[in-house]
Parts: sequence; C-alpha cells; structure tokens
Amino acid sequence: MNAPLYRIPGATAAEAEAAGAVTPAPQTIGEVLAQSQVEAVMDELDRDLIGLVPVKQRIRDIAALLVVDKLRLAHGLQASSGANAPSLHMCFTGNPGTGKTTVAMRMAQILHRLGYVRKGHLVAVTRDDLVGQYIGHTAPKTKEVLKKAMGGVLFIDEAYYLYRPDNERDYGQEAIEILLQVMENQRDDLVVILAGYKNRMDTFFQSNPGMSSRIAHHLDFPDYAHGELRAIADRMLLTMNYRFGPGAREAFDDYLQRRIAQPHFANARSVRNALDRMRLRQASRLFAERDRVLSRDDLTTLAESDVRASRVFTAT
Ligand SMILES: Nc1ncnc2c1ncn2[C@@H]1O[C@H](COP(=O)(O)OP(=O)(O)OP(=O)(O)O)[C@@H](O)[C@H]1O
Ligand SMILES: [Mg+2]
Repeated sequence: MNAPLYRIPGATAAEAEAAGAVTPAPQTIGEVLAQSQVEAVMDELDRDLIGLVPVKQRIRDIAALLVVDKLRLAHGLQASSGANAPSLHMCFTGNPGTGKTTVAMRMAQILHRLGYVRKGHLVAVTRDDLVGQYIGHTAPKTKEVLKKAMGGVLFIDEAYYLYRPDNERDYGQEAIEILLQVMENQRDDLVVILAGYKNRMDTFFQSNPGMSSRIAHHLDFPDYAHGELRAIADRMLLTMNYRFGPGAREAFDDYLQRRIAQPHFANARSVRNALDRMRLRQASRLFAERDRVLSRDDLTTLAESDVRASRVFTAT
C-alpha cells in the first residue's frame, strides 16, 4: 500500500502501529471529519453553548484550517512537527463568566481529535501556579506545570499578571521566558491559551512582543445580552433537573435586570451562582415541611419566593 499512513485520532503513531491499526490517509474533507469525529465536538459546542456566535464561527474556521492541513499533510505539503509545525497558541479575551474556560476545554478536544495534541486534556493555571516566591523556585514550578500540560492545552488565566513591570526583580519574567521557549520548540505537543480582560491583555502584548508573536489566534468573548443570560439559565436548570414554577421566570428576569446593573456582575458565572442560591432557598423551604410527602414537582420546582428572597431585590 502506497498511501501515506494516517494517525488514528487519540492514538500516538507508535501506539497505532503497535496495534496494527493503520488507517489510510484521508483524501476528502468528509474522510478527515469521519475519522477524527471532530464534527461531534463542534456540534456539541453549537448546541450546549448559548450565543457566542463570533467565537463559534472562529472555532469552525480554525477547525477548517486544521482539517485542510491534514489533507495537505497527506500530500507532503504540510509539516506536522518540528520548526514548520503550525502554531496553535491562542488568546481568549473577555469579561469574567463569558465562557472562556468552557470553550478552551472544547478546543482541547477538537485539537485532540484532529491529532494535534496527544491527550487533549486541559490544565488551567494562574500566576501562582507558575511563579515562586523565592529565588530558584519559579523554574521548577513552571516546568512542573508544563510537564503536566504536555500533550494537551495549558490555559493561563489572567496571563498578564505574569508581567509586573513595576517590580524589576519579579520572577514572573522567568516564567514567561520558559513559556516562550516551550511555545516555540514544543508547539507540536502543547497548545497554550492565554485568557483575561481584553485591555490588560493588549497592554501585556505591547510589553511582551515575543509572546504576542507566538499567538496565532485571538478570540474575543462578548458579554451576554439579557436574553442570552435567560437562555443560559434555562439551559442550566434543564441539565440540573429544575424548573421555574409560576411567576418564578418573571421574577428571575427582574432579578437579572437588577443584577446586571450591579458591580462584579460576571455573566454566565453570576447566573450559575444565582441558581445555586435559589436551589439552597428551595431546599430550606422544603426542609421546613418535615411530614409532607414531596412529589417530583416539589423537588424540581423553584418557586417565585425562592427568587424574590434574593438580596438583589432589597438593595437600594
Ligand atoms: N454560552 C454559554 N452557554 C451556557 N453556559 C455557559 C455559557 N458560557 C458560560 N457558561 C457557563 O457559565 C459558567 C462560567 O463559564 P466559564 O468558566 O467558561 O467562563 P470564563 O470566561 O472562564 O469565566 P472566568 O473569567 O470567571 O474564569 C460555566 O458554568 C459555564 O458552563
Ligand atoms: Mg475561567
């Protein structure tokens, strides 16, 4: 057989060979999609996540590029490793709770299914996981994290905290330098996603051109509109087996309106937290009725009072 060998998604080339499992190189987009099952992840992303239209479109574009690269690889037009490996490092900017971590996890799965990373796991870290307090502590810390993330995605939340220009002895710089090296030399085995607020990330890139030049894709996550937050709440309730009782949905609408206007509003994260508090109130309400037989309805319904008891309604 002369067709170039194609790696089975999820298995390393060596594992695939040992298992005698050799798939012929794909020749059509459809074959790449079928072999990698990447479409299932993209469909799930479309279905599970409300809104985020520009983000979803960008992910489809990136996936399309990767799929075409697979076909180019089979024709010897593309390198899969070494100095010519594609750079897949990304930057996700947006306010808290706009879905950055959630989308990064899906991205890791997509990269894995297309064979761009061996394992497809996500390691999420912040400055404290990478930078030590004392001299000599940073390099081993950063290297340990990189070791854990190899074969997957390293997600660095609020990445700009790595850079503290006001303190010239700051160890963050040491972590950045190690990251830069690995992002260049091991980019066929590790994808780094930097996340955080857009304006701070822009400033960070201005002072760290080396980092900026290694980021291939910038995705901006917009704040959710009121209607999207409501749809996100409905989706979350559905997956948790809860529902709004009479008047509760209207109360929640009212709640959202007030909460959005308050400080520290964090988009979908605030919705999740609000629902968790409503579940607590429902539980205390039911708890008070020791002898009543609780029906399925009782156990799944959030009452209007569970919503209206929120502090958001009493704050002036
Ligand atoms: N578009 C969406 N549809 C449904 N659920 C969503 C959506 N976006 C976020 N969520 C949910 O909201 C919560 C917060 O999302 P996530 O942690 O991905 O946000 P983030 O941008 O990483 O926030 P932070 O900056 O606070 O870390 C998660 O529970 C996630 O499942
Ligand atoms: Mg997050």
